[in-house]
Amino acid sequence: MKFFIDTANLEEIKKAESLGVIDGVTTNPSLVAKEGDIDFETRIKEICDIVDGPVSAEVVALDAEGMIEEARELAKIADNVVIKIPMTMEGLKAVKTLSKEGIDTNVTLIFSANQALLAAKAGATFASPFIGRLDDRAHDGMDLIKEIVQIYDNYDLDTEIISASIRHPMHVKNAALAGAHIATIPFNVIETLSKHPLTDMGIERFLEDWNKTQGSK
Ligand code: E4P
Repeated sequence: MKFFIDTANLEEIKKAESLGVIDGVTTNPSLVAKEGDIDFETRIKEICDIVDGPVSAEVVALDAEGMIEEARELAKIADNVVIKIPMTMEGLKAVKTLSKEGIDTNVTLIFSANQALLAAKAGATFASPFIGRLDDRAHDGMDLIKEIVQIYDNYDLDTEIISASIRHPMHVKNAALAGAHIATIPFNVIETLSKHPLTDMGIERFLEDWNKTQGSK
C-alpha cells in the first residue's frame, strides 16, 4: 500500500519524506487554512519540490467550468499536481474533461460505493472515501473501503482508492488488509505507526546488557 501524507505543513512533509515511506501528499482547503496566511499556489509548488509523487490540490469552484479553469492553472504548477474535485454531478463533468486533457484527478468527499463507482467511470485517477468522518457518524468507514475494493476489482477499474480521513493506526492496518491502494495519513498517525513499547524496552535492555560487557573489559 502506498502512503500519502495528509497535510499542507512543509516541516511535516520534509520529516515524513526523510523516512522514505511517503509516496505522495494530499491537501484540502482546511489543511491549507491551518497554515495561516500563505499563498496556495506557492505552497503547492513548495510541496511538489519536496515530494516526487502525486500532490493533491483542491479546487473551490462548485461549477464544472470553474473547476476546470482552476484545475488547468493548478496543473501548470508541476507535473505531479493532481486536482482534487468534490464528488458532485458538476465535479464528475469536470473529471471527464480533465481526464481527456491528461490532467490527473482525485475525487474527494466520497461516502458511498456508488459515488466511488461514478468517480471511476468518469475517469478519476484517484477516489477518496472518507473513513473517519463516516466513523464519526456511527457508520463503519472500513465497510465502505471493502465495498469499493470489491467493485473496482469486479470490473478491473483503474482508479486507485485513497483511504482518507484517517484518524489512527487501526484505520491504516485495516485499509491495508482491505486492499486499498493508498492511505493518506496525518503526520501524528505516521509517527504513532512507528512506535511500540516493546521496541523501546528492547532497546533499553540491549543497551544495559551491552554496557555490562563494556564494564568487564
Ligand atoms: C484527504 O484527502 C482528506 O481531505 C482528509 O483526509 C480529510 O480528513 P478529515 O476528515 O480528518 O478532515
